[in-house]
Amino acid sequence: MRYGIALGSNLGDRAANMQRGVHALLARLPGASLKAVARVYETDPIDCPPGSLPFFNSVIEIDCGLMPHEVHRAMVAVELELGRPSMRDRNAPRPLDLDMLYAGECILHDDDLQVPHPRLHQRRFVLQPLADIRPELVLPGQQQSIAQLLAALSDDPASVRLVKGVTLCEASRVLTSLTELPDRKRHGPPLAVLTAYDYPMARLLDEAGVDLLLVGDSLGMVVLGLPDTTGVTMDMMLHHTRAVARAKPRAPIIGDLPAHSYDTPGEAVHNAHLLIQAGAHAVKLEGGVARIEAIEAIIDDGIPFVGHIGMLPQSVLDEGGYKKKGKTPEGAASLMQDALALDEAGAIACVLESMVPDVAKEITRRVKMNTIGIGAGSHCDGQVLVTHDLLGSFPWFRPPFAKARADVAGETLRAVREYVAEVRSR
Ligand code: KIV
Repeated sequence: MRYGIALGSNLGDRAANMQRGVHALLARLPGASLKAVARVYETDPIDCPPGSLPFFNSVIEIDCGLMPHEVHRAMVAVELELGRPSMRDRNAPRPLDLDMLYAGECILHDDDLQVPHPRLHQRRFVLQPLADIRPELVLPGQQQSIAQLLAALSDDPASVRLVKGVTLCEASRVLTSLTELPDRKRHGPPLAVLTAYDYPMARLLDEAGVDLLLVGDSLGMVVLGLPDTTGVTMDMMLHHTRAVARAKPRAPIIGDLPAHSYDTPGEAVHNAHLLIQAGAHAVKLEGGVARIEAIEAIIDDGIPFVGHIGMLPQSVLDEGGYKKKGKTPEGAASLMQDALALDEAGAIACVLESMVPDVAKEITRRVKMNTIGIGAGSHCDGQVLVTHDLLGSFPWFRPPFAKARADVAGETLRAVREYVAEVRSR
């Protein structure tokens, strides 16, 4: 069912509150997807305490299988999470206000919930953003569309002003379901993908707007201290996939099949199902043509599949190191064959790791699936990084293409040294 939800904020960083609200709400509504996001408008506060900031207002439409009261409960929980003041003071400034405007064709009038919202048709700060996304909508009980209701208002149109340069854009651009992948390939923006191995990191990455969370077998190195990924087991992958899934992220989760978990098609299907049961929405394994039987078996069993070609970390011991791929015409042709085989088999996406950028670009052009590059130039449909490399939290090894945007290792050392010194000086 389609839900229209109005957002308002007049306390703190208003745009950030609204963006956080959208993420937090989607995280609390399993299976919900964001269908449309209006622009942000500013409205003067009415009947609010002196000194109150003007409101930022916007509207989103989501698709969700839950009943209106369940969605409403999630909305209240999100308002509280963002610091809603006491209900007794209805006009107190607030970081986030959420109102259910409509719930499909439902008409509800009880103590907790009234939909369609009884004052929707009188409020410019609701009708204006709603007209951005659903001008033609005629709500149950109304004769006129949203655009007509807006045109009929007699108040000053300047009381609700478009806020330039501030949008809920990040929220509107994030992926909310794997079914949106073909559309993302056609219309962009590029997919921003990161690895997550535990609950807090999954929550933070999701809130920051990452499109896909990969529970990569890189966890063997950056979390478990193994020398490479060849020693990672299914038990390790399941343990960490469950931790990530507990964050209930809006971003779909990809679970990695570790080395030797897909040696036969039967094992591949069995282990892929275990990852899905642990909370992954899709699974990934390394290899193209050489692994096509296992890959086809997974896809034939109805499990969304992500490929991984180019430099394959699980083959590092056989190959004698991490080597860039596609440098020779034969190498480039072999990568293209891998990519076309995966595309033909029905993979929804494919990681292109450490390969010549022009080869990645040509693969991206020729395949239907989304390509997600890592050390493969900037022409893929998306980009993935190991989060520890991005954050500078694994200082002992970082691949040359990974730009650290924080120094978590340095900050950890500083904080811990400070603590140690303080305890010792008591
Ligand atoms: O395991 C992993 O993190 C990966 C990425 C490097 C793509 O497969």
